[in-house]
Amino acid sequence: MISKKLLLLASSAAFAAALGFGFAATAAAEDLSDNATCLECHADEPRAAPESSDHPRIHTDEGGFNVEDHEMWSCIDCHDMITEIPHPEGIDGSAVNCTNCHDSTPTME
Ligand code: HEC
Ligand code: HEC
Ligand code: HEC
Repeated sequence: MISKKLLLLASSAAFAAALGFGFAATAAAEDLSDNATCLECHADEPRAAPESSDHPRIHTDEGGFNVEDHEMWSCIDCHDMITEIPHPEGIDGSAVNCTNCHDSTPTME
């Protein structure tokens, strides 16, 4: 009886390990919260100003940040519509909800 139980334990542990490994491999390949993942494709890419601008511009022309306080965040803290790589076609890059963090959308001064 004991040996059968151990065998069961051993095989479920191996199964869990295989699952865990699978998760780790997927996360390493596509960790959306890691800015390095995004910058593999979007580094040094020029950033256009938003087409209709009712708020201060976030990125610089070169792809950096106008406000230092924004540098520490994950890209997807703002670009929360990005949930897959490759992204679905026709995704709107300017659709960012400032109120994810701000009490209200910061306005132009
Ligand atoms: C604080 C919020 C915020 C963060 C953090 C942020 N973005 Fe943006 N991003 C925006 C906004 C808003 C726009 C629309 C243009 C603008 O307002 O500057 C934009 C535009 C873009 C665009 C489209 C540019 C174009 O030319 O159409 C890309 C690509 C992009 N961001 C990538 C990134 C990447 C990569 C990161 C992480 C390194 C990142 N963003 C971090 C808010 C953010
Ligand atoms: C494998 C390459 C690749 C990776 C990785 C990638 N992107 Fe993209 N991204 C693209 C392509 C291609 C487009 C569509 C072409 C374009 O508009 O520049 C795009 C478009 C965008 C846009 C819309 C730009 C616009 O013009 O409206 C945003 C915002 C964006 N990506 C953010 C991100 C964020 C945030 C990450 C990380 C979570 C990320 N991307 C990871 C390739 C990538
Ligand atoms: C992921 C969180 C986050 C998002 C989303 C975000 N911000 Fe911020 N932002 C911050 C933090 C944190 C600060 C620094 C503390 C403060 O001033 O509130 C800041 C500061 C700022 C500042 C400079 C200080 C000020 O209030 O004048 C501006 C301007 C600004 N953000 C604009 C925006 C705009 C516009 C958007 C949407 C396009 C946006 N932010 C989205 C986190 C965020």
